[in-house]
Amino acid sequence: MSTHLDNKQPRISIPGLRKMKQAGERFACMTAYDASFARVVDRAGVHLILVGDSLGMVIQGHDSTLPVTMEDMVYHTRAVAEGVTHALLIADMPFMSYAYPEQAVHNAARLMQEGGAHGVKLEGAESQPDIVEALTKRGIPVCAHIGLQPQAVHKLGGYHVQGREEEVARRMEQDAVSLENAGADLLLIECVPRALTAAICNEVSIPVIGIGAGPDCDGQILVLYDILGVSTLKPRFAKDFMSGQDSIEAAVHAYVQAVVTGEFPGAEHCFD
Ligand code: KIV
Repeated sequence: MSTHLDNKQPRISIPGLRKMKQAGERFACMTAYDASFARVVDRAGVHLILVGDSLGMVIQGHDSTLPVTMEDMVYHTRAVAEGVTHALLIADMPFMSYAYPEQAVHNAARLMQEGGAHGVKLEGAESQPDIVEALTKRGIPVCAHIGLQPQAVHKLGGYHVQGREEEVARRMEQDAVSLENAGADLLLIECVPRALTAAICNEVSIPVIGIGAGPDCDGQILVLYDILGVSTLKPRFAKDFMSGQDSIEAAVHAYVQAVVTGEFPGAEHCFD
């Protein structure tokens, strides 16, 4: 069956993703930053579209996501929302826009009211359960992002795999459970050894989305420009789906098919 969507398909929701997880069905996620690409990605059958603060790197040309502002995120989220009819639309909270609960609630509400997002994603672990709780208690869906957190690049000293040391791995497992207990609806794990991801997936019941985190996640996400082969950096966990395809929609559709059938990610896209 084709995953290309027509207008009769219902909107994907958080409960819908939960049902997919329970049924053992994998789902495909992708970033988008404007209405035209969002329309293509949505039509190709992607289940969740993220307006990632990766836009600081792939759109604005910075070497990190730190310069991205709330104004940038509201602007791009509003543009993407114009192009999306089926996918669940999540927007990233940029650096320092969720440092304390009141600020997080105010900014998440902006991304939903002004931007049209259905929920927000935020990075962080140890200090974040109180922020996640403040948001989810007010009905704001939250995707919590653990593992490699690009907003902490200067603290981490680069974009490296996280959780190879026993102590860090155990802390990450505890963080995942605390975030779920605080009400997180989704968990995103970035650049973590495959075995650690598998352990975390066993410990939480919310849908888990991976990027460079192995095949055990319920969903996978990639940056749109990485699958189109136009990014300057070529991360190990990404794959160019454009080769052999005659359109961007066909490339995104090939990615969706590869995720739902479990063909992607392969061993060459994972870390030990
Ligand atoms: O900002 C982003 O695009 C992200 C994805 C890489 C998961 O956080």
